[in-house]
Amino acid sequence: MATSQDYRLGDFTFPRGWFMIATSDQINTHKPLAVRFFGRDFALYRGRATGKVVLLDAYCPHMKTHLAAPNDTSYVIIDGGGTNIEGDSIRCPYHAWRFNDKGECDDIPYHDGAIPKTVCVKSWTVKESLGAIWIWHDPEGGEPEWECPSLPEWDDEAWVQWKWDDLGELKQHPQEVVDNICDYGHLSPIHGSTVQRYENEFKGHHAIQRQCGPHRTLVGDDGVSPILHTITKYHGPGVLISHLTGYYESILMINHTPIEDGSVHVWHALLVKSPNGNAKATVEDEIAAAQFQLASRLAFAQDFEVWTNKAPCLNGMFIPSDGPFMKARIWYKQFYNPRERSAEFLDKCEGVYVPNGAEPYTQR
Ligand code: FES
Ligand SMILES: [Fe+2]
Repeated sequence: MATSQDYRLGDFTFPRGWFMIATSDQINTHKPLAVRFFGRDFALYRGRATGKVVLLDAYCPHMKTHLAAPNDTSYVIIDGGGTNIEGDSIRCPYHAWRFNDKGECDDIPYHDGAIPKTVCVKSWTVKESLGAIWIWHDPEGGEPEWECPSLPEWDDEAWVQWKWDDLGELKQHPQEVVDNICDYGHLSPIHGSTVQRYENEFKGHHAIQRQCGPHRTLVGDDGVSPILHTITKYHGPGVLISHLTGYYESILMINHTPIEDGSVHVWHALLVKSPNGNAKATVEDEIAAAQFQLASRLAFAQDFEVWTNKAPCLNGMFIPSDGPFMKARIWYKQFYNPRERSAEFLDKCEGVYVPNGAEPYTQR
């Protein structure tokens, strides 16, 4: 596996940004969930008192027991009715120290007196939206630099809410996935798109691709089917949202979150506006939306299959008719370096780029 250092991304091993770490469904149980991202282990759970989502570093400061690993034998779990979540707190299965949603130890059953503030685990900034759980990950420990992903269409009854496709682990550095945002040359051979107009833009924490044309996988290329327009945007390094118009209006989301330095966990989903034009989506709409999500997933699988087997592209052999890979890679570096250096990278990549021989998407 090639590492962030191999790609010369910057000071940090893992980037700054919002990242998906689970689906909401995964914590709609009474048990905590052990998850691993950014090369570290976490305990993730939904507080039983308020329903809030809590993400703590996994290991108890007492003797380093995993707070959320499956455990069926400790009396902490057995007497807790199969769980160690108490209110919005979690109790360690080993000696029963308890930690609240802020990560502070608030109970040691065999100890009288005050518990020092230093007895704690780190509590991370998490949010729930779009049927997913999100972490703000920041190597510098700063506050979120932009909003957690959300979509106004999610709560609009005309749209069919998605169910996440959990695509599991991809053993590639996220750089290989992010390259796709400007990969003009792959659209026809891999996806069967006949690109009519194409451009990329880099601006702040956004990397944007605008393109249109017939598409063999998603709309057909029979000369009768509608043209597929996709406006695709990275919101920071790990969250991609694409607005599609073709047969149906829909919104695609692909999220990838580093597990180790050189591997990512990937999710895919599609939000579809009532294909039958209803103000409130019906069961028929839900069936059509699920089919369209499957078609979208198959289009994504075309990329995924290549990524699964390729070698790391540390030094590509790019030509002027390729998309602006070098600009995209500079844009991506801002997330692997201190915030105060962001302008340095943006000065070198912000702007609109059209590959040699392509027609710009936006007529200027
Ligand atoms: S290891 Fe957690 S309470 Fe002892
Ligand atoms: Fe692709």
